[in-house]
Amino acid sequence: MKNIPVIMIIFGGSGDLAHRKLYPALFNLYEQGLIHDNFAVIGTARRPWSHEYLREQVIDAIHETHDQVDENSAKDFASHFYYQSHDVTNVDHYETLKKLAQDLDDRYNAQGNRLFYMAMAPRFFGTIATHINDQHLTGSGFNRIVVEKPFGRDLASAEKLNKQITASFDEDEIFRIDHYLGKEMVQNILPLRFTNPLIKNIWNKDNIKNIQVTLAERLGVEARGEYYETSGALRDMVQNHIFQIITLLAMPEPKSISSDAIHSAKQELLDSLIIPTSEQIKHEFVRAQYAGSDTTFAYKKEPKVSPDSTTETYVAGKVKFTKGPVAGVPIYFRTGKEFKEKKNRIDIVLKHMNNPYGKAHSNNITIEIDPKSKIYITINGKKITESGIRREDLTYTFSKEELAKVPDGYERLLHDVFINDSTNFTHWSELKRYWSFIDAIEDEWQKENEEGNELLQYVPYRMGPVEAKRIFESPTEHWIYE
Ligand code: BG6
Repeated sequence: MKNIPVIMIIFGGSGDLAHRKLYPALFNLYEQGLIHDNFAVIGTARRPWSHEYLREQVIDAIHETHDQVDENSAKDFASHFYYQSHDVTNVDHYETLKKLAQDLDDRYNAQGNRLFYMAMAPRFFGTIATHINDQHLTGSGFNRIVVEKPFGRDLASAEKLNKQITASFDEDEIFRIDHYLGKEMVQNILPLRFTNPLIKNIWNKDNIKNIQVTLAERLGVEARGEYYETSGALRDMVQNHIFQIITLLAMPEPKSISSDAIHSAKQELLDSLIIPTSEQIKHEFVRAQYAGSDTTFAYKKEPKVSPDSTTETYVAGKVKFTKGPVAGVPIYFRTGKEFKEKKNRIDIVLKHMNNPYGKAHSNNITIEIDPKSKIYITINGKKITESGIRREDLTYTFSKEELAKVPDGYERLLHDVFINDSTNFTHWSELKRYWSFIDAIEDEWQKENEEGNELLQYVPYRMGPVEAKRIFESPTEHWIYE
């Protein structure tokens, strides 16, 4: 692997994301030689840490995520880390940061390349972007910026943030990260669709009855109440992860697998996204909050959550496009906290076909993303000793050894940033469409809140509210995963 010279500046270097995800992922890339001699990382945050303390934290992060660690290698890697105490609103601090970056560039021969990573609370993204521009933090080589989600809170705030970032970076230098796009089975959707004639030929509105996307979590909001209150399930999971998955499922075949071709196929689809009307939102979207029958356990009782909160922890709804192979086919989705189990899966539900044997199953295709990675297709055959049809699944799966080799999503996506491949990142034009859809729903819900409508509740560790059934277009439709 080619050694890429770069000075990386992480805003949020003392945070949870850096510790749990970025440092271990960078270590793996270091061990593979992608970043090696000519790189340094500056971790910034408000806390008064020293370089030494950050390096200890980096080594701890590696130990926490790796079974076996070569201590010398971990130490060498950590020696590339520098800490800069930083207040994101203080102009002088950016001057100090700029100087440190330049000194390190000279020392490590990083050729003026800069990679900025926004890994702190999203409310600071705009301020940081403005200062990167005003204090000229970009280098003389390549400049790239990775922006964590959420990218804005609605279309207007996303537009404002985008303007602040594009003051210093071109669209092809901005990497809006969505960790779902780094998941093995999400990356498997396009090859599955386009390399198998068996699948490609039935992937259309004539054969597919509906598509179902479920992102269910066993956990609640934990310690993230403060953030979650500003977000809710719709902004937290649908605006990004669910929409990206739906886009991959519904987009037309790209002309090639280049980043440009894939993004242009995505855009062609998204231009035809139907924004639901107020009436449709009332019937086709269901939001709810978890609340145990024992009143001590409920979302409203979580730390930093308002006792009158109207924030949804569950949402189910429907997406439709007017173009693409599944134009007009309902794509149902649901996501929620405190579900029966962690389960991220996609079900492609095929239409029934009359046959001389009578009752048979549809050849549904299921893609399990988490916690297992597998694909299975339902197949009908004859029963052995009695008459009738039996159902079996044809399964595509991985061996333990293969699974052990699957890189973490962050490692994969950071690798892509280093090699300048934006295939698995969200483009601004896509994000705009997603926000237009989300805004329509949020506006309607806001009106309902003002009218004093009560939010539905659902019992934890089950399958969400039964009312979610109402989103189906016909009585013959139901959730395949129940
Ligand atoms: C994050 C959300 O983007 O995705 C979290 O902010 C959620 O609320 C998480 O828990 C789920 O990711 P994963 O990879 O565990 O399914």
